[in-house]
Amino acid sequence: MEAAILYSGKYGSTEQYAQWLQELTGIAAYDIRKPLPDLSATEFLVLGSSIILGAPTFKKWLFRNWEQFRKKPVLLFTVSGTAPDHPNLITWLNLHLSPEMLAHLKYVPLRGRLDLMQLPWWLRPLLRLAARMTKDPEEAQRMREGFDYMDRDSLQPIVEWIFLRQVSAIAPKPVPASRPIPEHLEI
Ligand SMILES: Cc1cc2nc3c(=O)[nH]c(=O)nc-3n(C[C@H](O)[C@H](O)[C@H](O)COP(=O)(O)O)c2cc1C
Repeated sequence: MEAAILYSGKYGSTEQYAQWLQELTGIAAYDIRKPLPDLSATEFLVLGSSIILGAPTFKKWLFRNWEQFRKKPVLLFTVSGTAPDHPNLITWLNLHLSPEMLAHLKYVPLRGRLDLMQLPWWLRPLLRLAARMTKDPEEAQRMREGFDYMDRDSLQPIVEWIFLRQVSAIAPKPVPASRPIPEHLEI
């Protein structure tokens, strides 16, 4: 297997992005809660994680599995209500991932969806309470009303990153300068 997309979400938007990526690139997507295939032969990986309460939902899994990712190119996409350019996202990643992970991962933040009717009944009043306590009016509105920012086009930087990896995997490797020229080829 050349590569894999591994994702962790709760309410379907991270899964939707992973499936779109699978359609766009032909690389298979797997939910990390289910049994995964052998990843040892993969040349690169794409990891997707939703953000819940300021933390990436795949955090424990990532720490448990980091050893098999640290020597390969890995792109991480997060899916959140917070806008991709908001500094909170970097703050949350700094809080929850290790410096080695942060240095190694190519990061692309995406925006997701929150359908309040999909949530368990006890979570809705808690979100309304949190909305009253938050200072950011836009964030409060998102918590009160839900949102849908799903955007297939926002996957473009990830598709380009994958394409570059695929091209470099099949490109002929340059011959090292020090390699002696076989005698029969010498002029
Ligand atoms: C209980 C709860 C807490 C959330 N906390 C955050 C948060 O701290 N920051 C944020 O940007 N989005 C937050 N969100 C929004 C989710 O990141 C967003 O809905 C995302 O699309 C969920 O991905 P999923 O559908 O794959 O589970 C929260 C959503 C829920 C339901």
